[in-house]
Parts: sequence; structure tokens; C-alpha cells
Amino acid sequence: MNNSPIGIFDSGVGGTSIWREIHKLLPYENTIYLADSKYAPYGPKGKNRITELSVKNTELLLEKGCKLIVIACNTATTNAIRHLREIYDVPFIGIEPAIKPAALQTKSNTIGILATKGTLSSELFHKTSDLYANGVTIIEQVGEGLVPLIENGAIDSPEMEELLKKYITPMIAANIDYLVLGCSHYPYLIPKLHTLLPKHVTIIDSGAAVARQTQAILEKHELCASVTNIGDCMFFSNGNPEILTEILDGDFTVEALDF
Ligand code: DGL
Repeated sequence: MNNSPIGIFDSGVGGTSIWREIHKLLPYENTIYLADSKYAPYGPKGKNRITELSVKNTELLLEKGCKLIVIACNTATTNAIRHLREIYDVPFIGIEPAIKPAALQTKSNTIGILATKGTLSSELFHKTSDLYANGVTIIEQVGEGLVPLIENGAIDSPEMEELLKKYITPMIAANIDYLVLGCSHYPYLIPKLHTLLPKHVTIIDSGAAVARQTQAILEKHELCASVTNIGDCMFFSNGNPEILTEILDGDFTVEALDF
């Protein structure tokens, strides 16, 4: 048994959509979540900068004694996971857009993906889509501006609705039947997206799959906490802690920390 915490980081508050799934599946695991909101968004940044920030976050989580790290950010995973695995011994779990299930299930043979520029331009994303979505038409859309609005607590704003309409209208016109959310911030937009998309379009994100993969890797490395443990969840933000508190529905304490 290993009751050390699982470390989770994202460019900001969005990775809590992944943390939620992990906490739901593994409530006995202690977790430490880092919201690197000060440096959000990662999406428009280059690979080197994204890697630098990912190393900074990993160092802090390791200082805090984490046994495994979940990169709850598609942009950081697709740009930096290979480097992180090369330099650190702990297991890393990454998150990538769920292209595969969408490509397998589409009936219109057309799927939409909404993700950051950093993810859509990464080598890893291209490899995954070539491997799993061969022959399927993928309508790619950079969700420019969405993360800053979420980081500012403006999920339900008119600006958000405007941007979402602009991004999904061409996808609807192309007859998508699956919309892949390739950014861990975007699950917070699902209620709004449901009001804008035709009923037959299924939205998928990778949160539950990441939680299952976390469980499998913990088991493989014999790192699971005792099931009698009551998972302690700590949250740190280097941005506005109130936004993170709000995203967590006020259920958890968020500590402000400069990192
Ligand atoms: N939440 C992140 C992702 O999954 C990063 C978004 C951003 O910082 O641009 O890609």
C-alpha cells in the first residue's frame, strides 16, 4: 500500500474535470492538484515553453511527495510527456483527445474536434489521428479564447456563447455526429454545447478513460493507496484561487501559492 498523493497539473482550472473522474473512481487516493493559471493559456505557446512549464509543475509535485503524475492537460501531454518520461522515474499518465472512440462509432464518417492550437499542431496528435481515424473526416477547430474566458470565470457569458457558435457552426454544416473535446477545460462547456448542437451529436471527452488508466497504472506499479483511506484532496493555484474554488463548487479549500 502507498498512501502518497497522486499529483495532477493543468494550465489552470480545467484539469479539475479530470481530477473529478479520478476522485470518483479512486476516492481513497490522496490527490494534489496544481492550477498553473498564472501561465494560462498553454495552447498558443511553443513546445519548448510548454515543456518548461510542465517540468516546473512536475518538480513541485515531486517535492510534495507524489507517487504518480497525471498531466490533466492535452496541450502539455501532446508536447511534453515524452520529455517528462525521459527525465523522471515516476509514472506519468497523459490525456489526449478521444479521437479513437469517435472514429470507431461515427455513422456520418465525420467528427469534429475542438482543442488548443498546441494540441492540434503537435506531432503526437497527428500520429494518433493517422492511426485511429484513417478514412474519417476530422473537422479540426482551435478553441481560441475559450480557456481565458473559463480562467476568468466567464463560462456562462455571452462572449462564450458567441465563440462556441462560431466554432461549431462549420462542424454542424459538415454533418459531424461526434464532437471530441480535446482540452480538459472544455467539459465545463458541455451544458452550453448541448444547447447549441443538434440532438444527434454526441460529445466525448477523455476524463473517465484517464481515471481508468490511472487505476491500471497504480495497480501495475503496486502504488495503490489503502481502500480504507479517506482521500485527502489539496488544491493549489498560482492565479486567482477564487475561480478554482468556484469550479469546485466551493467544496474544497484552495491554497494560493506562487510557483
Ligand atoms: N487544459 C488544457 C488542455 O487540455 C490547456 C488549455 C490551455 O492552457 O490553452 O489542453
